[in-house]
Amino acid sequence: MPSGGFQPIEGGQQVVRSGVTKTLVLSVFTAILGSFQFGYNIGVINAPQKIIEQSYNESWISRSSSGSGSIDPGLLRTLWSLSVAIFSIGGMVSSLSVGVVSQWLGRKRAMVINNVFAFLAGSLMGLSQVCQSYEMMIVGRFLIGVYSGLASGLVPMYVGEISPTHLRGALGTLHQLSLVIGILVAQVLGLEMFLGSSSRWPALFWVTLIPAAVQSLMLPFCPESPRFLYIVCEQEAQAKKSLRRFTGLLDVTNDLSDMKEEKRQMDSEPKVSILQIFRSRNYRQPIVVAIILQLSQQLSGINAIFYYSTDIFSKAGVEQPIYATIGAGIVNTAFTVVSLFLIERAGRRTLHLLGLAGMIVCALLMTVAMALQETVPTLSYLSMAAIFGFVAFFEIGPGPIPWFIVAELFSQGPRPAAMAIAGFTNWTSNFIIGMGFQYVADLCGPYVFLLFGALLFAFLIFTYLRVPETRGRSFDEISHGFRKRNPSLLDQEVKASTEMESLGGPDEA
Ligand SMILES: *[C@@H]1O[C@H](CO)[C@@H](O)[C@H](O)[C@H]1NC(C)=O
Repeated sequence: MPSGGFQPIEGGQQVVRSGVTKTLVLSVFTAILGSFQFGYNIGVINAPQKIIEQSYNESWISRSSSGSGSIDPGLLRTLWSLSVAIFSIGGMVSSLSVGVVSQWLGRKRAMVINNVFAFLAGSLMGLSQVCQSYEMMIVGRFLIGVYSGLASGLVPMYVGEISPTHLRGALGTLHQLSLVIGILVAQVLGLEMFLGSSSRWPALFWVTLIPAAVQSLMLPFCPESPRFLYIVCEQEAQAKKSLRRFTGLLDVTNDLSDMKEEKRQMDSEPKVSILQIFRSRNYRQPIVVAIILQLSQQLSGINAIFYYSTDIFSKAGVEQPIYATIGAGIVNTAFTVVSLFLIERAGRRTLHLLGLAGMIVCALLMTVAMALQETVPTLSYLSMAAIFGFVAFFEIGPGPIPWFIVAELFSQGPRPAAMAIAGFTNWTSNFIIGMGFQYVADLCGPYVFLLFGALLFAFLIFTYLRVPETRGRSFDEISHGFRKRNPSLLDQEVKASTEMESLGGPDEA
């Protein structure tokens, strides 16, 4: 007999719920190191902006043939914006390949191999100062972006697939939590007294190697996702073995039959490609909603804060801008936890509307405070409070909600393609903000957040008019809601769906 112990089967009066096993804890922890890495690299370029720019300048001077010409400020700005934003180009490219890679290598092996990007990136960025090469920094930022794009797809997928049903929601949120903790840790380490000094800053990037090494060492001890083994590889014996390790139970027939049902549903519903989503009238409205919600997340200006807040705070007259940046990171983490509780209780649409409205108010306050700051210096506290509020409302609505809604708008068949489109939109708009913010901020001065306010207002109107509530509703109900809004589609689809129903069975009469 295997030494797995007895199973608590008592007359079958109760379904055996698998508890939290060591293997599950280990595997979830190992996986979300990827989310941490992602968050860390969002936050890491914020605080040390000035000293790294100075180092670019020094590299430029020592490399120029005359040995004296200092760098043109415009060029320096471009090089810095590029270092910040090329991260999202990497993410854009790799987020599109998550589906293929996770199918081909499996979830676990894909995560192991992904760390090659992190090791390369960390070394390039860490060595860029000694080598006097901002090119290495930029390439490194691209590679860590590639890592992050893959991780942002692989981690939620793996964690979702290995979690028992009743814990899936709770464990799924650990991805987001680990990400914001990564941002916070990067901001703290970026303090001048830690690693954010002109001599120590390369170490900020060497730190990237730590989660990569720990994750690479621990992944071999984590079982592959049983869903991948069963649904993709059709290896029932392997899937059972993996289930046994995750659940700690000998008899895994319950979980196995869940997966069989899932596979049956997937086989009955053909996979939909990205092109088909855009071509089919059925998906047009939901995909427009999915895309605009992703835009509402990124074009809200949140990453202007996470990439550039130290600069923003110092322009707003805050005396210790780096501490304000850390304050923003703490608010961000705290409200991520708050939203984990809210999401279970309030509707997605309500939370998104609330978040957008709150962000608009904060953007207006910020603008007023920054515009009058010259005459009333104490207003720097108001702009700080407004930025904290902005971040808090982001984590209540536009942060988490777009991902939830996309997943809930699409059923099994089109979901992977819809998620890929959403991810691509997200990274693209992330790039636009990372690259463009400093230029726009120079043009608009204190009024830059008015621009985000206007965009947020447009997203608020759109959400109010077009975004359905998805919480606790079936795909049928949701798609019916879309049809009601657009009666021109009604005829064809009613025809199509009656055909389906007459094939499906008589119980719909
Ligand atoms: C580059 O460094 C030189 C020498 O330290 C300095 O005079 C110049 O202002 C710097 N240029 C920029 C754009 O920071």
